[in-house]
Amino acid sequence: MKRTTVTAALPYANGPVHIGHVAGVYLPADIYVRYLRNCGREVIFICGSDEHGVPITLRARKEGITPQEVVDRYHNIIGRSFKDFGISFDIYSRTSNDIHKQTAREFFGDLYSKGAFTEEVTEQYYDSEAGQFLADRYIVGTCPVCANENAYGDQCEQCGSTLSPAELKNPRSALSGVPPVMRPTRNWFLPLDELQKSFLNDYIGGNTHWKSNVLGQCKSWLNEGLKPRAMTRDLDWGVALPDLPGHDAADLAGKVLYVWFEAPIGYISATRELRPNDWQEWWKGDTRLVHFIGKDNIVFHCIIFPAMLHLRGDGFVVPQDVPANEFLNLEGKKISTSRNWAVWLDEYLQELPGKQDELRYVLCSIAPETKDSEFTWKDYQARVNNELVAILGNFANRVTVLTQKFYDGKAPAFSDAHFSAQIGQVRSEIADLHKELCADTEEYRFRDGLTALMNMARAGNKFLAETEPWKLQKTDPEATATAMAFALEILANIAIACEPYLPHTHEKLCAQLNLLPLEFVVRAFWNNGTLLKPFAEGHPLGEPGLIFTKIEDEQIAVQLQKLQYKSMENNTTVPAPEETAAKPEITYDDFAKLDLRIAEIKAAEKVEKADKLLKLTLNVGGEERTVVSGIALHFQPENIVGKQVLFLANLAPRKMRGIDSQGMILMAEDADGKLVFVAPSEAVKPGSSVS
Ligand code: 2FM
Ligand code: ZN
Repeated sequence: MKRTTVTAALPYANGPVHIGHVAGVYLPADIYVRYLRNCGREVIFICGSDEHGVPITLRARKEGITPQEVVDRYHNIIGRSFKDFGISFDIYSRTSNDIHKQTAREFFGDLYSKGAFTEEVTEQYYDSEAGQFLADRYIVGTCPVCANENAYGDQCEQCGSTLSPAELKNPRSALSGVPPVMRPTRNWFLPLDELQKSFLNDYIGGNTHWKSNVLGQCKSWLNEGLKPRAMTRDLDWGVALPDLPGHDAADLAGKVLYVWFEAPIGYISATRELRPNDWQEWWKGDTRLVHFIGKDNIVFHCIIFPAMLHLRGDGFVVPQDVPANEFLNLEGKKISTSRNWAVWLDEYLQELPGKQDELRYVLCSIAPETKDSEFTWKDYQARVNNELVAILGNFANRVTVLTQKFYDGKAPAFSDAHFSAQIGQVRSEIADLHKELCADTEEYRFRDGLTALMNMARAGNKFLAETEPWKLQKTDPEATATAMAFALEILANIAIACEPYLPHTHEKLCAQLNLLPLEFVVRAFWNNGTLLKPFAEGHPLGEPGLIFTKIEDEQIAVQLQKLQYKSMENNTTVPAPEETAAKPEITYDDFAKLDLRIAEIKAAEKVEKADKLLKLTLNVGGEERTVVSGIALHFQPENIVGKQVLFLANLAPRKMRGIDSQGMILMAEDADGKLVFVAPSEAVKPGSSVS
């Protein structure tokens, strides 16, 4: 059997990871790897932080710190949250390591010496005051679509349009504010048009086993015809170029490897770091290379990286499978880091401690395997309470608590003389479910795999409901003992079967059952479907205890409120109308709780280090209030002083950027994200109530 090298996309170290990353990449990768390990297959699981690229430099500028400080901070946060969540990487490395820089330079140098690149001089935007070329993100100007004056050269954050710097009106440099000029620069390009003909058409065409969403995207790239792409960039944050014969240092100064060239090489560097002596065995020869990624990474892993590996030759394998997922949305909206519309993994782990498997369960149940899917906190609560607690938790609890009660916590005797028909049937059902679980996991259908696992618990509950051993204890103790011994047998099988999906639950169940599964037993279970037999009579169990507890309404309310507040702090308001799901009906009493008033803006100023926030001083009748509002990208402070606005006066105060925000002004937002104040049709006295 071949070795398998599994990689999970290297997250950018410019922010923590959120549930969209987890559902799309890290959780499926972890389930897959844990499954292979259980089968005894040779596998390594590689990941690390992607520490280069423009977004990191932007973040550093915004916070007034160095890019290295940014990546150090987030590398640690991300690494810790993966560990706490139970993502079982063999290594979590980082691309600022020397070994990575060396590996990436060697790779580039090797391709250069093979004549793989074309050298081209192109005109690029240059900031003559800052003395440097400008990446697209460093050019700002007026959006041609919505007239936002602060659109970036690659995207307008207000209307979401994808742009190129040439489309911006009045472009200016984000570094110095001066209009950029065009200047020639030399870079090295990967001739993807040539590679399409010589390699990529056949490579993609031969991967008929790939998921249809992945193949579909690859084919559409190929149909459009690939174009050469620069593998070096004029930037000062990244991996410097190696020496290139024929060029002196001045030719290479101020240039780095394109982040999408060097980041996937990070998988190789991390393998080198983990296995200095035999890393090549994991990249060459009899090796399956499997990349877990999100859909925005498909072109890099299915086209560019395979082309690079192919050009490198020397036995390097190309990716065998790229089970990319679609995107996870959150409460009816796209997850957005810049809008802070996200559930961050590190915060989840702090706020709902010990509930790793609850999140694993929910995210796996709704994973965007074939199309975009959606996380809502209400659905999270329903799945935990109605499925994990009510089905798996309930089965485990009944079995362990009854064993404690009837048999002083020791496995009772199993006898073939009782319930033999039912037991035979349930055993074969569990065996079938186990086969399904293995096939689904092997083929990246993790949602189905999880359903098969839960169906084992359903089968267990059904058996208990049909045999009702608690009623027989007095009249037929031998039958009761058999039913309970069999229920323990089912639970033991579930305990082993759940390891890839719910590893923390696996640990808890093994402790409660005092089950120390030997390696050969686990192998036989996963490889041959050999189920565990009943425990020997008298086998002492561990302490029983609840495996899952209910999620209360208050816990969900806290999360929902936090989401709204945090997005407000970063942005403007709640989702735009066309994205907002209809809200449930409320009573007049609910409405009457809102203290709505007309307020007048007396003063407005920008909040330091928060691009999107304005601090407003409001006249609310005899009273003055301070409010922090996420409207700075839409209005200049001096233009809004004197305006009358609709004001929610009794919203609980909240600290934003160290300022106590006492209430909220209400805005209307159209589908394009345009914001306007909601004001009375003629001026009224500040403080007037609205009802
Ligand atoms: O999209 C991202 O988050 C990238 N940092 C993924 C890189 S994957 C690989 F190429 F390293
Ligand atoms: Zn726009």
